[in-house]
Amino acid sequence: MFNTRVTRMLGIKYPIVGGTMASISNADFTAAISEAGGIGVMNSIMYQTRDDFAAALDRVKKLTDRPFAVNLNFFPAQFPVSQSEYTEIMGQKGVRVVETSGHTTPPPELCRRFKELGMTWIHKCAGPRYAVKAESLGADMVTVVGYENGGAVGQLEMGTLVMVPTTAGRLKVPLIGGGGVVDGRSMLAVLALGAEGVIMGTRLLVTQESPLHPTLKQALLAATELDTKVIMRTVGAHRVWVNGAARKCAEIEAAGANFEEVLNLVSGENSRRTYYEGELDRGIVPCSQGIGQVHDVPTLKQLFEGMIRQASEIVAGLAGS
Ligand SMILES: Cc1cc2nc3c(=O)[nH]c(=O)nc-3n(C[C@H](O)[C@H](O)[C@H](O)COP(=O)(O)O)c2cc1C
Repeated sequence: MFNTRVTRMLGIKYPIVGGTMASISNADFTAAISEAGGIGVMNSIMYQTRDDFAAALDRVKKLTDRPFAVNLNFFPAQFPVSQSEYTEIMGQKGVRVVETSGHTTPPPELCRRFKELGMTWIHKCAGPRYAVKAESLGADMVTVVGYENGGAVGQLEMGTLVMVPTTAGRLKVPLIGGGGVVDGRSMLAVLALGAEGVIMGTRLLVTQESPLHPTLKQALLAATELDTKVIMRTVGAHRVWVNGAARKCAEIEAAGANFEEVLNLVSGENSRRTYYEGELDRGIVPCSQGIGQVHDVPTLKQLFEGMIRQASEIVAGLAGS
Protein backbone atom coordinates (compact mmCIF):
# COMPACT_ATOMS: atom_id res chain seq x y z
CA MET A 1 0.00 0.00 0.00
CA PHE A 2 2.77 2.44 0.80
CA ASN A 3 4.75 1.80 -2.35
CA THR A 4 5.69 5.25 -3.67
CA ARG A 5 8.31 6.85 -5.89
CA VAL A 6 10.34 7.41 -2.72
CA THR A 7 10.34 3.73 -1.73
CA ARG A 8 11.07 2.66 -5.30
CA MET A 9 13.82 5.18 -6.01
CA LEU A 10 15.54 4.55 -2.68
CA GLY A 11 14.91 0.78 -2.69
CA ILE A 12 13.36 0.75 0.81
CA LYS A 13 10.46 -1.17 2.32
CA TYR A 14 8.63 1.65 4.12
CA PRO A 15 8.35 5.31 3.05
CA ILE A 16 10.19 6.40 6.19
CA VAL A 17 13.39 8.44 6.36
CA GLY A 18 15.24 8.51 9.68
CA GLY A 19 16.12 12.19 9.94
CA THR A 20 19.80 12.84 10.45
CA MET A 21 20.65 14.04 13.97
CA ALA A 22 23.99 15.61 14.87
CA SER A 23 25.92 13.62 17.49
CA ILE A 24 23.27 10.87 17.32
CA SER A 25 23.02 9.53 13.75
CA ASN A 26 26.23 7.53 13.90
CA ALA A 27 26.97 4.48 11.79
CA ASP A 28 25.20 2.02 14.09
CA PHE A 29 21.98 4.03 14.45
CA THR A 30 21.90 4.73 10.72
CA ALA A 31 22.26 1.05 9.90
CA ALA A 32 19.60 0.12 12.48
CA ILE A 33 17.05 2.43 10.82
CA SER A 34 17.82 0.97 7.40
CA GLU A 35 17.65 -2.59 8.76
CA ALA A 36 14.20 -1.83 10.18
CA GLY A 37 12.91 -0.97 6.68
CA GLY A 38 13.32 2.81 6.52
CA ILE A 39 16.42 4.65 5.37
CA GLY A 40 18.97 5.87 7.88
CA VAL A 41 20.79 9.14 7.18
CA MET A 42 24.29 9.21 8.70
CA ASN A 43 25.43 12.58 9.99
CA SER A 44 28.76 13.50 8.37
CA ILE A 45 29.85 16.34 10.65
CA MET A 46 30.14 13.97 13.58
CA TYR A 47 33.25 12.67 11.85
CA GLN A 48 36.08 15.11 12.24
CA THR A 49 38.66 13.51 9.99
CA ARG A 50 38.60 11.88 6.58
CA ASP A 51 39.68 8.57 8.11
CA ASP A 52 36.95 8.59 10.78
CA PHE A 53 34.35 9.41 8.16
CA ALA A 54 35.56 6.65 5.84
CA ALA A 55 35.62 4.17 8.73
CA ALA A 56 32.04 5.12 9.68
CA LEU A 57 30.87 4.46 6.12
CA ASP A 58 32.59 1.07 6.20
CA ARG A 59 30.83 0.32 9.46
CA VAL A 60 27.36 1.12 8.10
CA LYS A 61 28.06 -1.13 5.13
CA LYS A 62 29.21 -3.90 7.46
CA LEU A 63 26.03 -3.63 9.55
CA THR A 64 23.51 -3.49 6.72
CA ASP A 65 23.13 -4.41 3.06
CA ARG A 66 20.18 -2.08 2.82
CA PRO A 67 20.25 1.43 1.35
CA PHE A 68 21.39 4.25 3.58
CA ALA A 69 22.08 7.95 3.03
CA VAL A 70 24.64 10.45 4.25
CA ASN A 71 23.82 14.03 5.23
CA LEU A 72 25.98 16.98 4.24
CA ASN A 73 25.23 20.06 6.26
CA PHE A 74 25.14 23.59 4.86
CA PHE A 75 24.40 25.47 8.05
CA PRO A 76 26.92 28.25 8.57
CA ALA A 77 29.70 26.69 10.63
CA GLN A 78 33.29 25.63 10.43
CA PHE A 79 33.71 22.11 9.17
CA PRO A 80 36.90 20.16 9.70
CA VAL A 81 36.39 18.33 6.39
CA SER A 82 34.98 20.19 3.39
CA GLN A 83 31.72 19.08 1.81
CA SER A 84 33.50 18.33 -1.45
CA GLU A 85 36.02 16.13 0.37
CA TYR A 86 33.20 14.31 2.16
CA THR A 87 31.52 13.84 -1.24
CA GLU A 88 34.63 12.31 -2.79
CA ILE A 89 34.99 9.87 0.12
CA MET A 90 31.31 8.95 -0.25
CA GLY A 91 31.95 8.34 -3.95
CA GLN A 92 34.90 6.07 -3.17
CA LYS A 93 32.82 4.12 -0.66
CA GLY A 94 29.91 3.68 -3.06
CA VAL A 95 27.34 5.77 -1.13
CA ARG A 96 24.21 5.87 -3.30
CA VAL A 97 22.11 8.51 -1.52
CA VAL A 98 23.18 11.96 -0.34
CA GLU A 99 21.01 14.33 1.67
CA THR A 100 21.88 18.00 1.96
CA SER A 101 20.36 20.36 4.50
CA GLY A 102 20.95 23.81 5.87
CA HIS A 103 20.28 27.44 5.16
CA THR A 104 21.35 27.23 1.53
CA THR A 105 21.41 24.79 -1.32
CA PRO A 106 24.81 23.32 -2.19
CA PRO A 107 26.95 25.08 -4.82
CA PRO A 108 26.05 23.98 -8.40
CA GLU A 109 29.41 22.25 -8.94
CA LEU A 110 28.74 19.98 -5.97
CA CYS A 111 25.21 19.23 -7.25
CA ARG A 112 26.79 18.17 -10.56
CA ARG A 113 29.32 16.03 -8.72
CA PHE A 114 26.54 14.11 -6.92
CA LYS A 115 25.18 13.21 -10.35
CA GLU A 116 28.58 12.25 -11.77
CA LEU A 117 29.04 9.92 -8.81
CA GLY A 118 25.65 8.34 -9.53
CA MET A 119 24.06 9.45 -6.26
CA THR A 120 20.39 10.12 -5.61
CA TRP A 121 20.35 13.62 -4.16
CA ILE A 122 17.74 14.64 -1.58
CA HIS A 123 17.68 18.24 -0.37
CA LYS A 124 15.97 19.08 2.93
CA CYS A 125 14.59 22.54 3.60
CA ALA A 126 11.83 24.42 5.41
CA GLY A 127 9.93 26.28 2.70
CA PRO A 128 8.24 25.68 -0.69
CA ARG A 129 10.43 28.20 -2.49
CA TYR A 130 13.64 26.56 -1.31
CA ALA A 131 12.25 23.21 -2.44
CA VAL A 132 11.58 24.58 -5.93
CA LYS A 133 15.11 25.97 -6.06
CA ALA A 134 16.59 22.60 -5.09
CA GLU A 135 14.57 20.90 -7.81
CA SER A 136 15.84 23.43 -10.34
CA LEU A 137 19.43 22.57 -9.30
CA GLY A 138 18.77 18.89 -9.99
CA ALA A 139 17.61 17.43 -6.65
CA ASP A 140 16.03 14.02 -7.22
CA MET A 141 13.77 14.42 -4.20
CA VAL A 142 13.08 17.20 -1.76
CA THR A 143 12.23 17.02 1.93
CA VAL A 144 10.30 19.75 3.72
CA VAL A 145 9.71 19.97 7.44
CA GLY A 146 7.09 22.09 9.17
CA TYR A 147 7.37 24.33 12.20
CA GLU A 148 6.42 21.55 14.62
CA ASN A 149 9.67 19.73 13.88
CA GLY A 150 12.64 19.13 16.12
CA GLY A 151 15.72 21.09 15.03
CA ALA A 152 15.85 23.96 12.53
CA VAL A 153 12.38 25.44 11.99
CA GLY A 154 13.15 27.79 9.11
CA GLN A 155 12.22 31.43 8.86
CA LEU A 156 8.73 31.07 7.41
CA GLU A 157 7.23 29.51 10.55
CA MET A 158 5.00 27.37 8.33
CA GLY A 159 3.32 24.31 9.83
CA THR A 160 3.42 20.87 8.24
CA LEU A 161 -0.27 20.98 7.24
CA VAL A 162 0.43 23.92 4.93
CA MET A 163 4.08 23.24 4.08
CA VAL A 164 3.58 19.79 2.59
CA PRO A 165 0.66 20.34 0.16
CA THR A 166 1.94 23.76 -0.90
CA THR A 167 5.30 22.27 -1.76
CA ALA A 168 3.90 19.09 -3.33
CA GLY A 169 1.85 21.22 -5.70
CA ARG A 170 4.99 22.98 -6.97
CA LEU A 171 7.31 20.02 -7.53
CA LYS A 172 7.64 17.33 -10.14
CA VAL A 173 10.15 15.29 -8.13
CA PRO A 174 8.92 13.26 -5.16
CA LEU A 175 8.46 15.04 -1.86
CA ILE A 176 9.26 13.77 1.62
CA GLY A 177 7.40 15.57 4.39
CA GLY A 178 7.75 15.82 8.11
CA GLY A 179 7.56 17.85 11.25
CA GLY A 180 5.56 16.08 13.94
CA VAL A 181 5.45 12.61 12.42
CA VAL A 182 5.42 10.18 15.33
CA ASP A 183 3.02 7.36 14.38
CA GLY A 184 0.87 5.86 11.64
CA ARG A 185 -1.70 8.65 11.87
CA SER A 186 0.74 11.46 11.26
CA MET A 187 2.55 9.43 8.60
CA LEU A 188 -0.70 8.87 6.74
CA ALA A 189 -1.65 12.53 7.08
CA VAL A 190 1.62 13.65 5.49
CA LEU A 191 1.21 11.14 2.65
CA ALA A 192 -2.38 12.33 2.15
CA LEU A 193 -1.07 15.89 1.84
CA GLY A 194 0.99 14.89 -1.20
CA ALA A 195 4.29 13.62 0.18
CA GLU A 196 5.57 10.22 -0.97
CA GLY A 197 7.62 9.61 2.13
CA VAL A 198 7.93 10.92 5.67
CA ILE A 199 10.89 12.01 7.73
CA MET A 200 11.05 11.41 11.48
CA GLY A 201 13.65 12.61 13.94
CA THR A 202 12.25 13.15 17.41
CA ARG A 203 10.28 9.88 17.59
CA LEU A 204 13.42 7.90 16.85
CA LEU A 205 15.20 9.35 19.89
CA VAL A 206 12.96 7.25 22.12
CA THR A 207 13.58 3.80 20.66
CA GLN A 208 15.59 0.84 21.90
CA GLU A 209 18.34 1.41 19.35
CA SER A 210 18.67 5.16 19.97
CA PRO A 211 22.09 5.75 21.54
CA LEU A 212 20.74 8.32 24.06
CA HIS A 213 21.31 7.90 27.80
CA PRO A 214 18.35 6.11 29.48
CA THR A 215 17.80 9.11 31.79
CA LEU A 216 17.23 11.36 28.77
CA LYS A 217 14.92 8.82 27.12
CA GLN A 218 12.84 8.74 30.32
CA ALA A 219 12.73 12.53 30.47
CA LEU A 220 11.57 12.72 26.85
CA LEU A 221 8.92 10.08 27.54
CA ALA A 222 7.53 12.34 30.25
CA ALA A 223 7.55 15.45 28.02
CA THR A 224 4.30 16.88 26.68
CA GLU A 225 3.49 18.85 23.52
CA LEU A 226 4.05 22.00 25.58
CA ASP A 227 7.61 21.12 26.51
CA THR A 228 9.35 22.48 23.42
CA LYS A 229 10.41 25.98 22.56
CA VAL A 230 11.94 27.81 19.58
CA ILE A 231 15.26 29.37 20.54
CA MET A 232 18.47 30.54 18.81
CA ARG A 233 16.64 32.96 16.55
CA THR A 234 19.86 34.95 16.30
CA VAL A 235 21.87 32.03 14.90
CA GLY A 236 19.14 30.01 13.14
CA ALA A 237 15.91 29.21 14.94
CA HIS A 238 15.66 25.69 16.39
CA ARG A 239 12.85 23.92 18.23
CA VAL A 240 14.25 22.22 21.32
CA TRP A 241 13.11 20.43 24.45
CA VAL A 242 12.63 22.86 27.34
CA ASN A 243 15.42 22.10 29.82
CA GLY A 244 17.86 24.25 31.76
CA ALA A 245 20.03 24.97 28.70
CA ALA A 246 17.03 25.99 26.57
CA ARG A 247 15.73 28.30 29.30
CA LYS A 248 19.16 29.84 29.75
CA CYS A 249 19.51 30.36 26.00
CA ALA A 250 16.11 32.08 25.79
CA GLU A 251 17.13 34.26 28.74
CA ILE A 252 20.47 35.42 27.30
CA GLU A 253 18.95 35.99 23.87
CA ALA A 254 16.24 38.16 25.42
CA ALA A 255 19.02 40.11 27.13
CA GLY A 256 20.73 40.71 23.77
CA ALA A 257 23.47 38.05 23.85
CA ASN A 258 25.78 38.04 20.86
CA PHE A 259 26.39 35.23 18.38
CA GLU A 260 29.37 33.75 20.28
CA GLU A 261 27.58 33.71 23.63
CA VAL A 262 24.64 31.82 22.15
CA LEU A 263 26.89 29.42 20.24
CA ASN A 264 28.91 28.64 23.39
CA LEU A 265 25.77 27.66 25.22
CA VAL A 266 24.34 25.51 22.44
CA SER A 267 27.65 23.84 21.61
CA GLY A 268 27.71 20.25 20.47
CA GLU A 269 29.88 19.34 23.46
CA ASN A 270 27.19 20.48 25.92
CA SER A 271 24.53 18.56 23.98
CA ARG A 272 26.69 15.45 23.96
CA ARG A 273 26.92 15.64 27.77
CA THR A 274 23.12 15.62 27.86
CA TYR A 275 22.78 12.88 25.23
CA TYR A 276 25.38 10.50 26.59
CA GLU A 277 25.98 11.37 30.26
CA GLY A 278 22.33 12.09 31.04
CA GLU A 279 23.12 15.58 32.38
CA LEU A 280 19.63 16.77 31.55
CA ASP A 281 20.11 20.53 31.82
CA ARG A 282 23.55 20.78 30.27
CA GLY A 283 22.95 21.13 26.53
CA ILE A 284 20.14 21.71 24.10
CA VAL A 285 18.13 18.80 22.69
CA PRO A 286 16.31 19.50 19.41
CA CYS A 287 12.77 18.17 19.84
CA SER A 288 9.42 18.21 18.03
CA GLN A 289 6.03 19.16 19.45
CA GLY A 290 5.15 15.58 18.56
CA ILE A 291 7.08 14.44 21.66
CA GLY A 292 3.84 14.64 23.66
CA GLN A 293 2.55 11.62 21.75
CA VAL A 294 5.56 9.45 22.52
CA HIS A 295 4.69 7.00 25.29
CA ASP A 296 6.86 3.95 24.79
CA VAL A 297 10.35 2.77 23.83
CA PRO A 298 9.85 0.31 20.96
CA THR A 299 12.48 -1.21 18.73
CA LEU A 300 12.68 0.52 15.36
CA LYS A 301 11.15 -2.54 13.72
CA GLN A 302 8.20 -2.49 16.13
CA LEU A 303 7.78 1.24 15.59
CA PHE A 304 7.77 1.08 11.78
CA GLU A 305 5.59 -2.03 11.59
CA GLY A 306 3.14 -0.47 14.05
CA MET A 307 2.99 2.71 11.98
CA ILE A 308 2.27 0.81 8.77
CA ARG A 309 -0.39 -1.26 10.55
CA GLN A 310 -2.06 1.79 12.09
CA ALA A 311 -2.03 3.73 8.82
CA SER A 312 -3.47 0.74 6.92
CA GLU A 313 -6.25 0.35 9.48
CA ILE A 314 -7.15 4.02 9.17
CA VAL A 315 -7.29 3.77 5.38
CA ALA A 316 -9.51 0.68 5.61
CA GLY A 317 -11.72 2.36 8.19
CA LEU A 318 -12.14 5.49 6.10
CA ALA A 319 -12.84 3.45 2.96
CA GLY A 320 -15.55 1.55 4.80
CA SER A 321 -17.17 4.61 6.32
C1 LIG B 1 18.03 15.71 18.23
C2 LIG B 1 17.89 16.18 16.80
C3 LIG B 1 19.03 16.57 16.10
C4 LIG B 1 18.92 16.98 14.77
N1 LIG B 1 20.05 17.32 14.07
C5 LIG B 1 19.96 17.63 12.75
C6 LIG B 1 21.12 17.89 11.99
O1 LIG B 1 22.23 17.84 12.49
N2 LIG B 1 20.97 18.19 10.67
C7 LIG B 1 19.74 18.22 10.07
O2 LIG B 1 19.65 18.48 8.87
N3 LIG B 1 18.61 17.99 10.78
C8 LIG B 1 18.69 17.68 12.08
N4 LIG B 1 17.55 17.39 12.79
C9 LIG B 1 16.24 17.35 12.10
C10 LIG B 1 15.85 15.92 11.68
O3 LIG B 1 16.77 15.39 10.75
C11 LIG B 1 14.44 15.88 11.05
O4 LIG B 1 14.39 16.70 9.89
C12 LIG B 1 13.39 16.36 12.03
O5 LIG B 1 13.64 15.84 13.30
C13 LIG B 1 12.00 15.91 11.59
O6 LIG B 1 11.01 16.44 12.43
P1 LIG B 1 10.47 15.70 13.77
O7 LIG B 1 11.51 15.94 14.81
O8 LIG B 1 9.19 16.38 14.04
O9 LIG B 1 10.30 14.25 13.46
C14 LIG B 1 17.63 17.01 14.13
C15 LIG B 1 16.50 16.65 14.86
C16 LIG B 1 16.61 16.23 16.18
C17 LIG B 1 15.35 15.82 16.92
